[in-house]
Amino acid sequence: MQSKTVRDYIRTIPDFPAKGIMFRDVTTLFADPRGMRLAVDQLLAPFAGQTIDAVAGLEARGFILGGAVAHQLGTGFVPVRKKGKLPGETYEQAYALEYGEAVMEIHVDALEAGAKVLMVDDLLATGGTAEAGIKLLERLGAEVVASAFVIDLPDLGGRARLEAMGQPVHALCAFEGD
Ligand code: PRP
Ligand code: MG
Repeated sequence: MQSKTVRDYIRTIPDFPAKGIMFRDVTTLFADPRGMRLAVDQLLAPFAGQTIDAVAGLEARGFILGGAVAHQLGTGFVPVRKKGKLPGETYEQAYALEYGEAVMEIHVDALEAGAKVLMVDDLLATGGTAEAGIKLLERLGAEVVASAFVIDLPDLGGRARLEAMGQPVHALCAFEGD
C-alpha cells in the first residue's frame, strides 16, 4: 500500500460555509501525528538550505503551521494578525473577503529591514490574505523569500496573483475543478 500524502489527510466537507462550497478541512491533517509532521516537513523542505531569518504566519490557521515551521528551521515567528489583536504600534493592510473587507496588522518593529522571511498559511484561494501579508512584511523592509501553503485552489487565482507580484509560491497539494 502506498503511504498517505498530505492531500490524503485533508477532509472535504460539502456545502460549508455555504451551499455549493467544498470546504477543505485541515483539522484532520493537523490532528494526525504523521500528517502534521509530513505537512511541516514538506512546507520547509525547499528552504532548508537557504537563509531564512524568520517565519511569518497568517492568523489563524497559518499560526499552527508557521510556529512548527519556525521551530524546525530554528527561527523566530512573526504573527500577521486580524485587526485589533496586536498590542504595540502596527501597520494595517485591508484586503477583500467574499463579502466586504477585512484588515490584517503587523507590529512595526516585528522584523529588521532586510530580514529574509518565509510566509506560511494553510490555504491559498484568491490570494487576498496572502497579498496583504506580503505587503505588510515588505512595509517593514523584509524580503519575502517565498510563501508556503498546504493547499492551493488554483481555480481561485491566488497562485497567479502572487506570481504576478514576483512572489514564489510553494504549495503541497491542489484541489481544482469543483
Ligand atoms: C482562510 C485560509 C486563508 C485564506 C485564504 O482563512 O486560512 O488564510 O482564507 O483565502 P484567500 O486566498 O481568498 O484570501 P480565513 O480568513 O477563513 O480565517 P482563519 O484562518 O482565521 O480561519
Ligand atoms: Mg486563514
